[in-house]
Amino acid sequence: MKAVYVRHHETVEKECAEAIRIEGWNARDHVRVFSSDAALMCFPYRPELVGHILYPNRGSLFDGIFLDRSLLLFRGPWAEAFLGQIHHSLCDGATMTVPYYPDPQARAKGFWSRADLEAFFGKAAEADRAGEYARFRKAGELTPTDSVLTWYFQDYAHLVVDDLLIRSALRGADPTDVRHLLSGLPLPETWPAELPFRSGEPEGTEKVAKKHRYWMGGLAVKSAVMGKIIRDRFAADDELSFLDHGGGLGLLAAELLLDPAVPVARAVNCDIDTVNLILGGRLFDFYRRRFDGCLFAHLGPSEEFPYRRPYDVVSFIGSLLYVPRNLTSSVLDRAWEALNPGGILVVHENIKTDSHKGTRDYDMMFTPEEIDRLMGRFGPVDYYAGTAATRMKPEQVGARTIFRVVQKG
Ligand SMILES: C[S@@+](CC[C@H](N)C(=O)[O-])C[C@H]1O[C@@H](n2cnc3c(N)ncnc32)[C@H](O)[C@@H]1O
Repeated sequence: MKAVYVRHHETVEKECAEAIRIEGWNARDHVRVFSSDAALMCFPYRPELVGHILYPNRGSLFDGIFLDRSLLLFRGPWAEAFLGQIHHSLCDGATMTVPYYPDPQARAKGFWSRADLEAFFGKAAEADRAGEYARFRKAGELTPTDSVLTWYFQDYAHLVVDDLLIRSALRGADPTDVRHLLSGLPLPETWPAELPFRSGEPEGTEKVAKKHRYWMGGLAVKSAVMGKIIRDRFAADDELSFLDHGGGLGLLAAELLLDPAVPVARAVNCDIDTVNLILGGRLFDFYRRRFDGCLFAHLGPSEEFPYRRPYDVVSFIGSLLYVPRNLTSSVLDRAWEALNPGGILVVHENIKTDSHKGTRDYDMMFTPEEIDRLMGRFGPVDYYAGTAATRMKPEQVGARTIFRVVQKG
């Protein structure tokens, strides 16, 4: 059984053909395909039936694996965990073919060079003639990298089931029970007197699984670009304090703490959703030794966050739109005031374009001008791409979904 990993399933036929050509495979019937936009983790035997790239496969499953160039793999813990899990599903002695970028491009965009891959897997068995793919032969297991994704691969089933169970347990629950559920969490000094108690609509299994895959997939880009933004502005030996508003389970806060190349030493996730924080507690428990005293959760809306200490980095990633619009300005003002000199405010929002018309969030979304105006009150706005760990010129931005950064003088 072989496996091909691609980004989008629409192009699966072309990419499978490419994999089979490069690998010299002929047993097309036995190729399983995984893509980042597959609906479910089915077990396909035909290329048009694809599974999801974040489905945790068991060990020694495949006797050949090909990763297509279309996959966005950033250098860092998330991709190490991803590659490690795929490597784990390879039979001993079999090969895995991985795309790489020429050195200058890899450095400029945060992708993997051939030297990066060899530092991770060991010496490549072969490089493709085009110099774009390196082939690695499996000889034993790799040591798992500390990453949120490593936790996800191990805890995947519990995560989905717990989300469903907790969500249904909270429906109509007495707030005292919720206090009990939250008691194991790393809630900081800001335990609210009045317990905010809010959780989303009831959801089905498929929707919950999809939501977790979406968050976990999005973390690949968000952690890589945030890491780049932070490295561009702070020294490697700084001990930064980071606050992520609307951070969901706290994945970004956790991943930046785990990344040795990012100098974040203390991180707080503020989220309004009770279930998110309880599920984030599973991640906290998994890396408890690493996170004790460094990672905190705050349950409540961003508009009421009690700033009791200064921060070096405050971010709103896909969450500013949920703050009531009459409070957006003051929410950003309070975040800005809480920044240390040299600190940064980062906002990442899906931009209001016609492609989002008819979605639940459309009316709440920002135009680029609105965010630029809100952030431009504090100083010049810098831009970072949403698909590569690299800066953008203002004229390249348009209606793209990107990261906006303002630094305090
Ligand atoms: C689209 S998700 C983004 C999650 C995460 N930042 C990411 O990028 O994957 C929006 C998050 O904002 C949270 N949220 C919504 N309204 C909020 C508010 N007023 N204050 C704080 N968090 C809020 C939701 O519970 C959810 O976790």
